[in-house]
Amino acid sequence: MAEFNELYARAQYYDIALGRDIRREVRFVTDLFRSLTGRPLGSVLEIACGPGYHTRAFAKAGVTATGLDLRPEMVAFAGQRAREDGVNATWIAADMRDFTLPKPVDAIITMYDALDCLADQDDVIAHFRNVAANLTPDGLYVLEFTHPHDTGFADYGSFRYEGERDGTRVIVEWATNNPSYHPLTMIADVEVVMRVIEGGKERTFVDRASERMFTTPEIAAVARLSGALRLDRAFGDFDLARPLDAGPPPRRMILALRPVGR
Ligand SMILES: C[S@@+](CC[C@H](N)C(=O)[O-])C[C@H]1O[C@@H](n2cnc3c(N)ncnc32)[C@H](O)[C@@H]1O
Repeated sequence: MAEFNELYARAQYYDIALGRDIRREVRFVTDLFRSLTGRPLGSVLEIACGPGYHTRAFAKAGVTATGLDLRPEMVAFAGQRAREDGVNATWIAADMRDFTLPKPVDAIITMYDALDCLADQDDVIAHFRNVAANLTPDGLYVLEFTHPHDTGFADYGSFRYEGERDGTRVIVEWATNNPSYHPLTMIADVEVVMRVIEGGKERTFVDRASERMFTTPEIAAVARLSGALRLDRAFGDFDLARPLDAGPPPRRMILALRPVGR
C-alpha cells in the first residue's frame, strides 16, 4: 500500500508544498449532487483527506463534514487548522477499506489520486462496499485522478510542488526515479523527495511507495463486481459541462459513482 511515511507524517510540510485552492472542486461536488438528486448537499465524507482542504471548505459552507485519513498526524493537523478557522468538522483516523460512520452521508469524495494506495481489485472492492454502506440511498461518490493524458504506463511523468510559509520553504519532487507502471500489476514504484529549508538548514526526506494506475473502464468493472456501486458519469475536469475527453489542459479524470439501484 502506498504510504509515503516521510511526507504524510509531516502534514505541516505537505500543506506548505501541496496546499491549493479547492473551491471549484467543492462547488463541482455540490452542484453535481444537486443536479442528480434535486436536493441540496447536506453531509459529506472526505476520504484520504490529508490536511482536510475539502472537508474544511464544505464545513465552512454549512455542510456537515467529516475528514478521514490513515495517518493520525494528518487528521490532527486538519483538526487544528479547522479549530484555528473556527470551523466545525469531524476527523477520523482510519483505513479507507474499513470504516463506519455513525450516520450515512450524502456524498463521499476521494481527491487528488488518493485511491492509488489500493494495490489490487480486492482492496478496491472492499473499499467500494464500505463506501456504499456509508452513503445515503441516493448518495454520490466522487473520485479524482490524474487525467490519462498526463500520465502513462511507460512513462509515469514527474511532478514538482513547491511552497513557502513563515520562512519555511518546502519542495516536493514526485517520481524522481522515472518510474513506469508494471504491465501486469499496474503498480509503479515511486520515489518522492521532500526538501525542507527552515531556519537556515536544509533537510531531505526520501520516500518510496507503490502507486496503482486506474482506468475508467476498470473502475466501472470493479464497481460492478462490488455489487454495491456503479459508474454514473465521467468528467474531464471539475466542470459539469466537460466530458472525459482528450481535450487540452487543465484536465483531471473525475468519476461519479452511485449506489446500485440509483
Ligand atoms: C495525495 S494525499 C491526498 C490528500 C488530500 N486528499 C489532498 O487533496 O491534498 C493521500 C492521502 O491518503 C492517505 N492514505 C493513504 N492510504 C490510506 C488508506 N488506506 N486509508 C485512508 N487514507 C489513506 C495518506 O495518509 C494521505 O494523507
